[in-house]
Amino acid sequence: MGKRSLILTTVLGMTISIFLLSMAFAGQEVPDTITMKSALFKKHKKGLVTFTHKKHSIDYNIACVECHHVYKDGKNVWKEGDNVKKCMECHNKAGKPRAKKGEKLSKDEKIKYLYTAIHANCKGCHKDLKKQGKKTGPTKCTECHPKKEKKK
Ligand code: HEC
Ligand code: HEC
Ligand code: HEC
Ligand code: HEC
Repeated sequence: MGKRSLILTTVLGMTISIFLLSMAFAGQEVPDTITMKSALFKKHKKGLVTFTHKKHSIDYNIACVECHHVYKDGKNVWKEGDNVKKCMECHNKAGKPRAKKGEKLSKDEKIKYLYTAIHANCKGCHKDLKKQGKKTGPTKCTECHPKKEKKK
């Protein structure tokens, strides 16, 4: 094989794999219930949260865009059928937001933390619905994070 055709074959091969990869993404699956254990948290100090994905979406009738987004010029352009990235791929700061002494973190800084984004989404909605007197989900720590068995 000449050098030229070798390069061509390689490029073609790469194109096909990228194509196959995106097909796999388009058929992205999501379990009915997700045990939230993002790798960004090196250690989970709190009990792991069980999130009923299917129930939220179907039984509680919450639109995908309430939780999934891709912002472009301040607008959410994500639509059903698009690939879904994990929250931590964008909200990629680990731990709890902590400002340096004498400084304050802006809202834009805080939302970069997965800790802030996830609590704002989950707890935020539950709180809002509570205020409106509607059926809602838990807002207390231990109602989402079950108490861990004490290590002996
Ligand atoms: C509505 C449910 C909900 C409530 C209420 C809630 N959390 Fe969370 N919390 C989560 C979810 C979901 C995560 C993300 C876990 C992951 O993706 O790994 C999380 C992550 C965390 C983490 C980082 C992971 C860990 O275990 O170290 C801490 C710490 C935490 N929460 C503390 C709290 C505290 C303290 C409260 C009460 C003030 C609270 N949470 C209330 C759902 C909740
Ligand atoms: C109430 C919030 C909420 C609603 C509504 C919701 N999702 Fe999700 N979804 C999540 C969370 C949280 C995850 C876990 C993300 C993570 O682990 O970072 C997730 C994960 C996913 C994943 C898997 C992503 C991955 O890489 O693991 C897909 C696919 C998905 N959702 C699609 C949808 C679609 C389609 C809808 C609407 C029919 C929808 N979701 C409605 C919150 C929601
Ligand atoms: C593709 C990148 C990306 C992914 C994936 C992503 N976010 Fe965001 N998110 C952003 C950006 C950028 C903003 C800031 C938007 C703005 O300018 O206000 C944001 C804002 C937010 C906000 C505050 C404003 C709002 O829209 O309510 C919350 C809460 C939030 N994200 C939670 C989540 C959760 C929970 C997940 C996973 C289910 C997630 N995000 C996945 C990029 C992302
Ligand atoms: C847009 C609103 C909204 C968002 C976002 C949301 N929830 Fe909920 N959640 C609800 C409603 C509404 C209910 C209860 C409805 C009912 O009982 O009829 C609920 C119920 C729950 C319950 C108790 C019942 C069950 O199905 O387990 C848990 C736990 C819970 N949510 C966790 C979460 C977590 C964790 C997240 C974030 C990953 C989240 N929720 C995001 C609206 C929301």
